[in-house]
Amino acid sequence: MRVLLLISGLLSLVTRVSSLELDLDNYESLQNATSLVAYGLMDYYTGDQYGKTVGMFSDPYYWWQAGGAWGCMIDYWYFMQNDTYNDKIMAALLHQTGDNNDYIPLNQSTTEGNDDQAFWGIAVMMAAERKFPNPPDDKPQWLYLAQAVFNTMALRWDADTCGGGLRWQIFVWNSGYDYKNTVSNGALFHLAARLARYTGNTSYVDWAEKVYDWMWDVDVIDNGTWRYVYDGVSVNDNCSTVTKYQWTYNQGLMLAGSAYLYNMTGSDIWHKRTHEFLNASRVFFNDSILFEAACQGPNTCNTDQRSFKAYFARFLGSTAELVPETREQIMTWLNTSAIAAAKSCSGGTDGHTCGLNWFLGDWDGKYGLGEQMAALEVMVNTQALNRNPPFNSTNGGNSTGDGAAGTQPHATNLSPLHITGGSRAGAGIITAIIGISIISCALWLVY
Ligand SMILES: *[C@@H]1O[C@H](CO)[C@@H](O)[C@H](O)[C@H]1NC(C)=O
Ligand SMILES: *[C@@H]1O[C@H](CO)[C@@H](O)[C@H](O)[C@H]1NC(C)=O
Ligand SMILES: *[C@@H]1O[C@H](CO)[C@@H](O)[C@H](O)[C@H]1NC(C)=O
Ligand SMILES: *[C@@H]1O[C@H](CO)[C@@H](O)[C@H](O)[C@H]1NC(C)=O
Repeated sequence: MRVLLLISGLLSLVTRVSSLELDLDNYESLQNATSLVAYGLMDYYTGDQYGKTVGMFSDPYYWWQAGGAWGCMIDYWYFMQNDTYNDKIMAALLHQTGDNNDYIPLNQSTTEGNDDQAFWGIAVMMAAERKFPNPPDDKPQWLYLAQAVFNTMALRWDADTCGGGLRWQIFVWNSGYDYKNTVSNGALFHLAARLARYTGNTSYVDWAEKVYDWMWDVDVIDNGTWRYVYDGVSVNDNCSTVTKYQWTYNQGLMLAGSAYLYNMTGSDIWHKRTHEFLNASRVFFNDSILFEAACQGPNTCNTDQRSFKAYFARFLGSTAELVPETREQIMTWLNTSAIAAAKSCSGGTDGHTCGLNWFLGDWDGKYGLGEQMAALEVMVNTQALNRNPPFNSTNGGNSTGDGAAGTQPHATNLSPLHITGGSRAGAGIITAIIGISIISCALWLVY
């Protein structure tokens, strides 16, 4: 037994030494390296095990991060031209749509926030734009699902407090209902921008402008020299005190959203804003290597935060695809970070587990779904300019949608504040409906 352990220890040492050396000029080497990282990511997927839920990853990874992870796997398929996991991606995205095809599945509905829903919406938007294989005809299509997420979020726009904005939480009983966080609003802006470019429907541009203007008004987008994007504001003081954490994914949502809008409209304003968000992104790089500045320094990154660099890398890649003048800067950042990230993928028993800190030239001892996602996205996005830019309905994108998706009232998508013209009655009704269903479930369990 000891001998065996010793041998496997030695073997893992050997694999460690020869682990992910990235040669970005050699596509095959990149495909090989990323296939190991993707395999490591899917190690956390439990959805096809007996008794587990399709689409969900192991504990402690929340539902929202699963949506983020399926987005990473779509990028992996697209940029590496490897369809190994496509069946699992398809099954996951379709199993979690919920009864109303808007990504509020009943299992999540009591805890789900706007931001959680949005990350699944972004995954299906990617599926439409990358021409991921379409679902069977009797299932909702990618564009439809993305529109349903957008519409249900837009219905929750809360003009009653702070002059607008989305609240973090969908339901009043969840803590955080009084917070208007940037990731919810930034994701609404971002989805609006992508739907605008995909469908050509300018109503989405209007929505994107409305969300941007509100974020500017309450200063979660810094009005000063640098267009930093902050964490959020509270309704308790009329959104007058900004919580000044800066997260990569928030900067990225605004950056790429602006890039989509510029690419669609050709407008100088969105070109300027794209560059402003890009310039401010510098705070997340040191010698062109990406890091999660707010938590990596103090070493406090939680499970969610460890995945943020994944979305940011993805959004940088899309921005480079859509706004030619950003390419030089973005590719320098992505290429340098990808090589550094690959060097961090030298840990664990498999010898290529990825770490959180990409500055060490080696594994830092950290591991998890977020670490795998971030390394994978930054590596595959080095190919952002070598594959087709996002498709839309005029250049080959063929996903079927419906501008009214998600707008039929249901218990889980009613817009409490909007529908009742500002009163809280609607919210009370939802609370009651969900409350009753929780009580009936509980009673059912008792009897
Ligand atoms: C909800 O949870 C049940 C029990 O764990 C599971 O069987 C089902 O697949 C889940 N549904 C969704 C949409 O996740
Ligand atoms: C609350 O904040 C909004 C947005 O900044 C502003 O338009 C409104 O005037 C403020 N209301 C009060 C009462 O200060
Ligand atoms: C939009 O993106 C396409 C694809 O990369 C690019 O060819 C085009 O120049 C972009 N449009 C603008 C206005 O920059
Ligand atoms: C454009 O989008 C808006 C907002 O989602 C929708 O109400 C409208 O029906 C759409 N128009 C068309 C022509 O699809």
